Amino acid sequence: MAKVSPARNLAYSALSSWQKDKDSHLEQHLKGQLNSKDLDLAYTICRGVLKEKTFLQKTLSRYLVKKSKKLPSEVETILLLSFYQRLFLKKIPRYAVVSDAVELCKEKKPAFSNLVNAILRNLDRDLEAGFDPQKEPMSLEERYSHPKELIDLIKEETKDEALIEQILRWDNAKPKAFLRRKNGSHEECLDVKAALQSDDFKNGEIYFMQLWSQEVANAAPVKDGDQVLDLCAAPGGKSLALLDRAKIKLTACDFSESRLAQLKENFARMGYATDPGITIKQLDARAANQEFPPEFFDLVLLDAPCSSLGTIQRNPELRWRFKLEQLAEYAALQKSILQAAKTLVAPQGYLLYAVCSFAKAEREATDLLRQDTSWTLVKEKLTYPGEQDLFDGGYYSLWQKN
Ligand SMILES: C[S@@+](CC[C@H](N)C(=O)[O-])C[C@H]1O[C@@H](n2cnc3c(N)ncnc32)[C@H](O)[C@@H]1O
Repeated sequence: MAKVSPARNLAYSALSSWQKDKDSHLEQHLKGQLNSKDLDLAYTICRGVLKEKTFLQKTLSRYLVKKSKKLPSEVETILLLSFYQRLFLKKIPRYAVVSDAVELCKEKKPAFSNLVNAILRNLDRDLEAGFDPQKEPMSLEERYSHPKELIDLIKEETKDEALIEQILRWDNAKPKAFLRRKNGSHEECLDVKAALQSDDFKNGEIYFMQLWSQEVANAAPVKDGDQVLDLCAAPGGKSLALLDRAKIKLTACDFSESRLAQLKENFARMGYATDPGITIKQLDARAANQEFPPEFFDLVLLDAPCSSLGTIQRNPELRWRFKLEQLAEYAALQKSILQAAKTLVAPQGYLLYAVCSFAKAEREATDLLRQDTSWTLVKEKLTYPGEQDLFDGGYYSLWQKN
């Protein structure tokens, strides 16, 4: 029996195990003893299938005679990853896709291998004859592979057709990576692998940070000597940007031990491992007012846990775990953290609230400050994904205590 290529084998097993646990991250399933070229291909295929899932299913349905009969999940996965390669990764030779699909099917569901072979050959025949699935009439859900519930939310939030398409198109576009230098400048990173191996990275001169996150960090007013509390700090991107901007005394907290370990690693690489002005604490931010003295900090940064709807481009699987009711759960958590956070800000001090989501519900926590006359709104910004073709979606507001 011919052997399936390691990359497609891994792509198949990663997609299959992700399907059994859709709340998990794709990366958790992409582990194997593969060389980096194979690992990259497996990753590209998996990300692509998650990003284009409904579009691929719709295109596949054209080749199913009994449309009402569901294919076994193993067979559907094999076909979706093959369709993705044929439609989006055109440099991969056709025979490699077809022969690996048939071999995989012989291993997983042998009774369907002739069907898989026939469908892929029919697709190739149609592509050669000029068939372009992108030109087929499709709903937004099908064209952009977003669940209906999420599309309905985007429509409700934006009420603007051009903006809806901007968000959906951005979510499916290839992510760009950005670097921030210690001096606060930023640049697009065109070769992530090279940047990771560069002296600048090893010596802590640069770190990866999306433009929206950089904008949030830049909105925080900091000066030398300030006492700063970052309540949801891990993995530390915004804290690092603040440390680079002024000689602050920083207390960085997070609920998650594993994410705090990442934060410590990032701080160490950036040269802050032994900084006596930095304290790192594991903490449930809802109880922050029991941990620190009242009105102690010049700045409290609350980069709140949220649905992350503004970052679907970089996390394509997020769309498939979206549940409308989660927004209310996040909103309740955000409110209780903000309730604790606001007591810790010194008079004339600042509170910066941020989420990487554009959902209205996740801005509601700030009503606690809006309705309180002891707080003044200094500035606020809402950005939808894809703004200027550069930014993820998010919201921040900066408040000063009178
Ligand atoms: C948006 S991320 C923070 C990103 C970080 N500020 C940065 O720029 O790298 C939100 C963080 O909130 C943390 N978190 C969730 N619930 C929390 C809670 N109750 N108390 C403290 N941190 C919490 C998560 O572990 C996560 O690291």
